[in-house]
Amino acid sequence: MQKNAHPHRDCNGKIAVVHNGIIENYQELKKELEKDDCGFKSQTDSEVIPNLISKFYKGDLKKALIKAMKRLKGSYALGVISSDEPERLLVARSDSPLIIGLGKGENFIASDVPAILKHTKKVIYLENKQLAVIKKDRVNVFDLKGKEVSPKIDTISYDVEAAKKFGFKDFMLKEIYEQPRVVSKILSQWMSLEGNIRVRDLDLNKDFLKEIEQIVIVACGTAFHAGLVGKYIFESLVRLPVWVDFASEFRYRKPIIKKNTLLIAISQSGETADTLAAVQEAKKSKIKVISVCNVLGSSLIRESDINLNTYAGPEISVASTKAYTAQLMTLYLLALYLARLKQNLNEDKLKKAISSLEKVARGQKKILARSRDIKRIARRHLHFGAFLYLGRGINFPNALEGALKLKELSYIPAEGYAAGEMKHGPIALIDEYRAVVCIANDSPVYDKMLSNIQEGLARKGKIIAIASEGNEEIKNYVKEAIFIPKIEPLFSPLFAIIPLQLLAYYIACLKGYDVDKPRNLAKSVTVE
Ligand code: G6P
Repeated sequence: MQKNAHPHRDCNGKIAVVHNGIIENYQELKKELEKDDCGFKSQTDSEVIPNLISKFYKGDLKKALIKAMKRLKGSYALGVISSDEPERLLVARSDSPLIIGLGKGENFIASDVPAILKHTKKVIYLENKQLAVIKKDRVNVFDLKGKEVSPKIDTISYDVEAAKKFGFKDFMLKEIYEQPRVVSKILSQWMSLEGNIRVRDLDLNKDFLKEIEQIVIVACGTAFHAGLVGKYIFESLVRLPVWVDFASEFRYRKPIIKKNTLLIAISQSGETADTLAAVQEAKKSKIKVISVCNVLGSSLIRESDINLNTYAGPEISVASTKAYTAQLMTLYLLALYLARLKQNLNEDKLKKAISSLEKVARGQKKILARSRDIKRIARRHLHFGAFLYLGRGINFPNALEGALKLKELSYIPAEGYAAGEMKHGPIALIDEYRAVVCIANDSPVYDKMLSNIQEGLARKGKIIAIASEGNEEIKNYVKEAIFIPKIEPLFSPLFAIIPLQLLAYYIACLKGYDVDKPRNLAKSVTVE
């Protein structure tokens, strides 16, 4: 509805505000402002903000904004202008992210770096409860007392070129194809010339890391699925108990966190409101936080004790692809580091694991080279009304991620399930109208997956299998098979995810949808 669209103005039409966030006490403020004869036009919480500022306005917008900030409860990033002071733009933040881009004779505001990257690489990350007065040639930052503070100016290191499509039809395909380069980059950042894992921030915290007894992982969306893979990785390599939670659940559940717990927060953007709130909740128990994050300078990085950059470069497509594999790669390396530190892994096993990781980029390229086959399978299945994704063990989270990619891009109902659970419900859904994607790579649970495939076939389900190269047997069962290179099963999620991303991508493209900007979704969810 147009009247709910930003900017919102005060009832005199002089002060206009754009707002990202949620004002929790807006009902109370609205009642108070209505007593002063202030009429509201929209159904938004945001409209109280210009009216509150207007109430305090006595010729100085900055003073009025500070007074209003002291009354507002909740999260906000604000842009405020007044027709009385047209040469100044004021901004303020509490919990929601806000960055100021510094140009020549022009300045910018945004929630996230990619939005301003084509104009400038110099940014100020406004701190919580700070405000700034922005003129075309000047930016002054203040605290809530109105005292000027000198902000840190960061220079964004990633290339503007990285945010271009480079001949790809859309950002998503470009980002899918970037994955081999990203995993190689992560490996090169983590490994010393002598072939040892070396990360300064981890080395500095060795004493504490040696003592950890439990790992808790919090994240949202695709990053949550990376966390679920992380559980298998850490339990297998580090032999520590791991629990993974949706950040939105963790933050309200009053979780019981023992001392010597390590919290790992995973986020592409580092600005997801629920993930940030989960970290704040965990920090009440005085535990240490490692962030696995793609955006330097983001709020999550500033909240964490140790930051592990995922080096994926800007991810523009709303559906996350390269950030996911970058998160997985980072979790493998962190697990290997911790396993070595806790003496759970000898040199030989460590070397074998590193050599598997070194094979990933080449293997991913091989899968990408077969994208035409995946496109053909997509064409044959795009009319199916529903999909079921099945996986076991470390590839169960990939089943969830494959289903998420399909539903967010193609709007086709898709469910991901642990294949062993099929008999407890989802098997009832299988008939000739259901496509069933089965991750059946070589692994200790391959035979079990094969049984699941047979159960699906017996109910006339249309099976698409993801199998390891050299598996001739699978062709006796299924018409559609996508082959991935052989690798130690622990590392197979780094291969199995690529066909799942491509399948979802091609189905959406063939249906004519905008893959980079699926309906109703945002790249970075900075409000609850
Ligand atoms: C949004 C995006 C997803 C992403 C999730 C978490 O929902 O559309 O692609 O996985 O947020 O984002 P984060 O930046 O915390 O990884």
